[in-house]
Amino acid sequence: MQPSINTAKNIINEANAIIITAGAGMSVDSGLPDFRGDQGFWRAYPPLKDKNLSFTDMANPQWFFSNPKLAWAFYGHRLKLYNATTPHEGFYLLRELCKEKDDNYFIYTSNVDGHFAKAGFDKDKIYECHGSIHYTQCIYKDDGAIWAVDESEIEVDEDKFEATKMPTCKECGCVTRPNILMFYDGVFNWNRTKAQYHRYDAWLSKNMNSKIAIIEIGAGLAVPTIRAYGERMAKRFNKANLIRINPTDTKISPYYGISIKMGGLEALKAILC
Ligand SMILES: NC(=O)c1ccc[n+]([C@@H]2O[C@H](COP(=O)([O-])OP(=O)(O)OC[C@H]3O[C@@H](n4cnc5c(N)ncnc54)[C@H](O)[C@@H]3O)[C@@H](O)[C@H]2O)c1
Ligand SMILES: [Zn+2]
Repeated sequence: MQPSINTAKNIINEANAIIITAGAGMSVDSGLPDFRGDQGFWRAYPPLKDKNLSFTDMANPQWFFSNPKLAWAFYGHRLKLYNATTPHEGFYLLRELCKEKDDNYFIYTSNVDGHFAKAGFDKDKIYECHGSIHYTQCIYKDDGAIWAVDESEIEVDEDKFEATKMPTCKECGCVTRPNILMFYDGVFNWNRTKAQYHRYDAWLSKNMNSKIAIIEIGAGLAVPTIRAYGERMAKRFNKANLIRINPTDTKISPYYGISIKMGGLEALKAILC
């Protein structure tokens, strides 16, 4: 067993507050794809390989203007896939851990799949910094309403990779877009994310003197929001330690904490069972 497993157990045993920071790798053991490089993305979306479109190309709000049927084929397919997938046991082990810590926890994730809520974490203790695929907004307005979206509002012709039914805006009747922060995104409606952030910030204020274990699972290097955040926290809070779980991208300064070179589920079982 890696010595870092024992160190992680000690960090967690001593903690009285938990921050779970998670990237796409957290959902890989549930069977969901991460988007590692163009090849990884195209393995998940072969029709987009034929069109030579990368994840960065697709995660662009312009598609909802220029080709909404293609945009909704991509996001509609993802929504249905995320709905059809069950969060793996690691989510439930973390849930149990948080209960043992009197529910003094917060989730900070760039995942848009909604799987922490699906696994029973309190939705008021989740900060989804890149938004959520389960909500939509107007394509023109960065303010106003945000709606929960039901997958019955979307139909996708998988062969043509084209949406045949798309959710419409309840305010102006235009096509909607997911309430997800995309690249070159000037229209993302921050209202839901901001409310989550305020709850998170209030929780943090109460935990300034807590002993915090930051458990990071599956956060990549390409969009390093989650990794950088955990490191910043470990630096800012004297009593915080970062546990980085990743099968490949394990580099970490000992100043921030330790890393465990394993997949999420395997590592969580080793630490928490
Ligand atoms: N499920 C989702 O919601 C989802 C999926 C793909 C992409 N995204 C979005 O794409 C962006 C991608 O950033 P990212 O850093 O989260 O993902 P990424 O695809 O860039 O990196 C994934 C990371 O997970 C690691 N990983 C792979 N298998 C793993 C496993 N079994 N257990 C633990 N870790 C594993 C990889 O080594 C890598 O470091 C984010 O903005 C996110 O919103 C979200
Ligand atoms: Zn509208």
